[in-house]
Amino acid sequence: MWTPGIQWMHVIADLLIAVAFFTIPFVLLYVARRRRDLTFNRLLAAFGVFIVACGLTHVMAVWNVWHTDYWLEGAIKVLAAVALVPTAILLWRALPQILSVPSQRQLRDANESLARANRELEAFTASVSHDLRSPLTTIAGQAGLLELSLPNANEEQRRRLTRIQGSVKQMSELIDALLVLSRISRHTLHREIIDVSALAESIFQDLRQKDPSRNVEVEIQPGMAVHGDRRLINDLFVNLLANAWKFTSRTEHPRIEVGQSQHGSMATLFVKDNGAGFDMAHEQKLFKPFQRLHGAADFEGTGVGLATVARIIDRHGGRIWAEGKPSEGAVFYFTMPTSPITEQFLLMQRAMA
Ligand SMILES: Nc1ncnc2c1ncn2[C@@H]1O[C@H](COP(=O)(O)OP(=O)(O)OP(=O)(O)O)[C@@H](O)[C@H]1O
Ligand SMILES: [Mg+2]
Repeated sequence: MWTPGIQWMHVIADLLIAVAFFTIPFVLLYVARRRRDLTFNRLLAAFGVFIVACGLTHVMAVWNVWHTDYWLEGAIKVLAAVALVPTAILLWRALPQILSVPSQRQLRDANESLARANRELEAFTASVSHDLRSPLTTIAGQAGLLELSLPNANEEQRRRLTRIQGSVKQMSELIDALLVLSRISRHTLHREIIDVSALAESIFQDLRQKDPSRNVEVEIQPGMAVHGDRRLINDLFVNLLANAWKFTSRTEHPRIEVGQSQHGSMATLFVKDNGAGFDMAHEQKLFKPFQRLHGAADFEGTGVGLATVARIIDRHGGRIWAEGKPSEGAVFYFTMPTSPITEQFLLMQRAMA
């Protein structure tokens, strides 16, 4: 019997079901926007249409309690049925892909074993670097003794000795660089709020002191701060500012700017110069150890500075990228947390991802 009580029970239930259905496409839209890496977009779209059509059938059920638009109700049911077909096909097709998505537990395990392998690799790098030092010291010492024992060495012999000593020095620098890199990965972070503007200013003072002949226009945005490990953040800025300083050494009116382009819990900072610049085609090489885009004859270096910078940023949960143009200059952007909460959140998110 269709009593008012039963009627209202149907109306309320249908309305609640419709509202619940209508909220689902928003969730799907949010997932599609947040997880652009997922390749289920067509399935999400089809599922969204189907869900909206289902919601509409319930709205029509309420409507038809007082009206009799059975044609419209039927048409909406047909729409839901039609939308169901591609949804079901896409769902079946995506099933192997969905099943292959690893669970959070699997991801955490993989992450842990990767971190363990990385730690072992770092320890291996450190011990190999230490072990290489001893024969290298012997070579350097013997080359020095040889030089002393050959007071009347001819031009050719001197040239060869100088080359040996030059190579020993270069190898020693490479070993130092490897040790610096492995130390960063093993360094325990002590996080605090760091006044980046003051830090940049003091690094520029050191650079000016070491190279008083240079006249570089420096602009530092006041009030910049990040949350990180003081020692590592210092190393990060020493490397970036030393690069800007070095690669503007052949520029007529050198100018370096340190600023912040995005504020909030995650800041985007940048170091910009109008120096030698680089070809964007090699941007990814910049952050790999021992990769250099400029010859040692033009600008000296071992090519480990930016790899160090990238590792420091990675340890703080940020990311780095660069823009450049040959002979026009370069900008290095990086993101850094400005609060303890953001940093914790980023690192947790990374561990889960
Ligand atoms: N500000 C910059 N302008 C133009 N090129 C840059 C700049 N900073 C880095 N590069 C390019 O990236 C390469 C890698 O930089 P990185 O700091 O790692 O090494 P490096 O400065 O050459 O040596 P190191 O830092 O070990 O003394 C550089 O050799 C250079 O080709
Ligand atoms: Mg450098």
